Amino acid sequence: MIKAVILIGGPMKGTRFRPLSLELPKPLFPIGGFPVVYHHIEACKKIPELKEIILIGFYQSSESLSKFILNAQQQFNIPIRYLQEFQPLGTAGGIYHFRDQIAMGDPEGFLVLNADIMGDYPLVEFVEFHRKHLGEHSILSTEANKKQAHNFGCLVEDPETHKVLHYVEKPETFVSETINCGIYIFSPAALFKLMGEVIQRNYHKMSEEPFAGNVESVRMGEDVLATLANSGSLYAFKSSSFWSSIKNAGSAIYANRNVLSMYHKTHPDLLAQNGKGQPHIRGDVYIHSSAVVHPTAVLGPNVSVGSNVVIGAGARVRETILLDGAELKDHCCILYSIIGWNCSIGMWSRVEGSRCDPNPNEEFSRPDGESLFGDDGKLTPSITILGRNVTISGEVIVRNSIVLPHKDLGQSYKNEIIL
Ligand code: GDD
Repeated sequence: MIKAVILIGGPMKGTRFRPLSLELPKPLFPIGGFPVVYHHIEACKKIPELKEIILIGFYQSSESLSKFILNAQQQFNIPIRYLQEFQPLGTAGGIYHFRDQIAMGDPEGFLVLNADIMGDYPLVEFVEFHRKHLGEHSILSTEANKKQAHNFGCLVEDPETHKVLHYVEKPETFVSETINCGIYIFSPAALFKLMGEVIQRNYHKMSEEPFAGNVESVRMGEDVLATLANSGSLYAFKSSSFWSSIKNAGSAIYANRNVLSMYHKTHPDLLAQNGKGQPHIRGDVYIHSSAVVHPTAVLGPNVSVGSNVVIGAGARVRETILLDGAELKDHCCILYSIIGWNCSIGMWSRVEGSRCDPNPNEEFSRPDGESLFGDDGKLTPSITILGRNVTISGEVIVRNSIVLPHKDLGQSYKNEIIL
């Protein structure tokens, strides 16, 4: 029997996802029309022996989270629970804190997934791989290019046995191009023993000197993975399918494109088709069944349209996520943007962001998790984001900007954060 744990973090996380994460926990942000963690749950559900999914985080339980869990439980027919940390316990402390809940039923192993990633995870193959090293631990890895690898956990493995020889969390100097995807399978008893020792060490440190931070906090990379690699009990399974971390809103557009492309294989029924009396569809587009789209609108490629969205005549939308309840009036044009819940875009207006994809000329390039501002203090060109309830008048252009919720824009803006 196997369980899965999804680390969903909490409100202090997801800061590079603002203003969208002010409204909704980042793990519930829709990619390809469904919340990020919905895709994780769907991927986990493919493992035949999976008995339970536990979400661990430090969000206060909310209506949106409870509703999501209830719906997902019903749809996937698997128990799903949310366990809330009393305070942030780091990327692995929650796993130790709730070890009794995880160990209940005596699972042979448990899968852990970071919530802020998206991919075509080969979880069934990963479980098979893990079973070859019973009693040990496994990590899913992929390739990054030399310039970007230091933004992730990096590992060096024995090419024959796949045993991890060395692991460094976000190294300052180059270690390897093989990076940690944020997905693991652990053997419970051995892992909890190791984590208990980390916490003992924290208590010991605290007795000797003032200890900044929480003694129950455990870091997945530095405390767990590096130690497992040193003890020779960690094995790496390399995946070459799509994988991306979702740090900022720009990477959500990139992930949206890849998830829509995955639907060709997994859910072709979710991709909009051209037809008589239907809007013109170019490439991959998802449209929620409650959305109303004028037949003269042109959508795609790579557009997700949320529930109750209304799109008027002649509107043009590409590389964009339209969140629930947004209204696009006639002939507006939306490119490389995320349009927040219940926003209204006026007639003939244009909302446009910059493409921020991984460099197509560099193999294994990943979206940059860069900060909002460049070294010159200027806003880095990125997608345009409108927070909830933003109203844009007719014939206005908004380019490369971030607009906070509840704003009325009657004039054009370029490269601005509109507070
Ligand atoms: N429950 C809980 N409590 N979850 C947390 C906490 C916490 O205190 N802090 C972070 N998390 C969750 C986040 O929500 C995310 O899903 C995951 O733990 C990773 O947290 P980050 O701190 O954002 O790490 P990272 O994304 O920079 O790096 C990690 O992921 C990379 C892959 O995307 C590392 O594991 C890297 O080695 C890895 O390459």
